[in-house]
Formats: sequence, structure tokens, C-alpha cells
Amino acid sequence: MATKEKKTIDKKLRNLQQSTQNGQDQMLTTNQGLKINDNQNSLKSGERGATLLEDFILREKITHFDHERIPERIVHARGSAAHGHFELYEPMSKYTKAKFLNQAGVKVPVFVRFSTVAGSRGSTDLARDVRGFSVKFYTDEGNYDLVGNNMPVFFIQDAIKFPDLIHAVKPEPHHEMPQAASAHDTFWDFISLMPESMHMIMWAMSDRAIPRSYRMMEGFGVHTFRLINEAGRSHFVKFHWKPLLGVHAVSWDEAQKISGKDPDFHRRDLWEAIEN
Ligand code: HEM
Repeated sequence: MATKEKKTIDKKLRNLQQSTQNGQDQMLTTNQGLKINDNQNSLKSGERGATLLEDFILREKITHFDHERIPERIVHARGSAAHGHFELYEPMSKYTKAKFLNQAGVKVPVFVRFSTVAGSRGSTDLARDVRGFSVKFYTDEGNYDLVGNNMPVFFIQDAIKFPDLIHAVKPEPHHEMPQAASAHDTFWDFISLMPESMHMIMWAMSDRAIPRSYRMMEGFGVHTFRLINEAGRSHFVKFHWKPLLGVHAVSWDEAQKISGKDPDFHRRDLWEAIEN
């Protein structure tokens, strides 16, 4: 490169650095990148007139403001997640042509999130509740998402009942109690009318329900999935996760005491296990 050319580039770079530091030559813009020089005065119809809806800068600023908090998820709001990898030991080619289930020994990055269902974001990890077990596989052929629970059956057989199930388990509408707990009238009312819920209730109310650690609980895809192999033949399959550390739970008495002392018990355990 000629010395003159290099000097010009160096000068441009220096100017750019200076202007990002002192804001010189940097324009205020809308979210769409349109240069503007005023976001402090809305458009009015004359000096004493009403504010005009055609002021898209005002509308963008207010709409952005109204939406800047991400609303809480209706279910599974409380959760903790970790990055890791999935390694296949045995090719599953009899069942599927998906590459990540055919190449033994290849490590596929995954992101796994564990959650409770009913409680809000800041609720205790030790709630008597189902645990969500969601896995995102980042495969060469695209992302494969699998949601599961730590119990193999489910409350309902028809997704159209899900909003009713969740409204029933969420806190009562008139006083917003109890938090992250199924033992209240609206839930029992729902269960009493839904015989198909009984099996899942037995799991949820059992001493197995509340995991000792996310590292010590099973995962189940719950649904029956259909996989297709290279020859186009399909098989029905179930996904089950088995923890190497075994399945361990805490009793209700332990859960209540831990909730008081450390509501982040499962998150802390996951964090510290990885740190260690
Ligand atoms: C039957 C009807 C069902 C409906 C309508 C439903 C609906 C939902 C909704 C709306 C969310 C929140 C998504 C978000 O805000 O990001 C969610 C999350 C979740 N659901 Fe379901 N669900 C159903 C059944 C199930 C079943 C059977 C399982 C277990 C296999 C399950 C496992 C999960 C998990 C693990 C999450 C959390 C995902 C994450 O960690 O990001 N759900 N579900």
C-alpha cells in the first residue's frame, strides 16, 4: 500500500475513534436508523394544539417504552439453564435419518433448561410442582427442540384444556394466593372434574416429586414422537433421560425448610456443580 494511502486510512480511523468517544458526527436516530435531531418535542397541531398521531417518532418512543419489559411466561417462568453437549453412543439409524442421532462419538452442543411450572419468576425452586426439562440441540441440520417434564404422564389428554388447567393452578384471582402451590380450591375444583388428571396428581403428590437436584432427576418427552429413517419407514418413540447420579428427591418437610433458607437451592446447586 502506498504511504499516502496508508496515512489517509490511519487519519480516517483516528477520526472515527475520536467521534465515537466524543459523539461528534454521530446522529441521534429512531430505532429504524432514521437520523433525527429532536426526540424531546412531539408534533402539535399549532402552538396550543393537540398532539398528533402522525408523529411516528413519538409513537415509536412510547411504544418502545411500553414494551421494554419482557412479560413473564405464563408457565415455566422460574427456571435455570446450562450449556453442555450431547454425545451419541449408539447409532439410531434404524429409527431416524437425523444426522445427530446417527454419528456416534460426535459432540452436539446443547442448551438445557430446568423449570417449575406454576410459580412466578422469583418463586422457590422447591415448589411441589412438575419440573420442566427442555433441551435445544444445535445440530448441523438445524436446531432440534425437545421439551420434557420430570414425570412421564400429563394432567390432560387434549391441549384445549391447558389454559383451564393453568388458570386453575395459578393463584386464586381475588387475592393472588398461593404462590407456586397447587393446594388450593380452584386447582382441586379442576382436578375433581378431570379424571384423566389422577395419574399425574399421584406423581406430583408423591415423595418423588420434588428433586434433590436438577442433576438427580429424570426427564421424559411425555408425547410419543414419530421418527423416520433413511428408507422412509417410521417408528413411534419415547424420549427418556436417566441421570447418572440416580433419582433423588427431598421430602415435603425438607422442601419447606430449604425454601425458607435458600429459595434458589436448585439454581445454586447447578451453578456450583458447574463451577466446581
Ligand atoms: C398440553 C398442552 C400444552 C400447552 C398448551 C403448553 C404450553 C406451554 C407454554 C405456553 C409454554 C411457555 C413458552 C414460553 O413462554 O416460552 C410452555 C413451556 C414449557 N412446556 Fe408446555 N404446554 C403443554 C404441555 C406440555 C407438556 C406435555 C410438556 C412436557 C413434555 C411441556 C413442557 C414444557 C416445558 C419444559 C416448557 C418450558 C420450556 C423452556 O424451558 O423454555 N408442556 N408450555
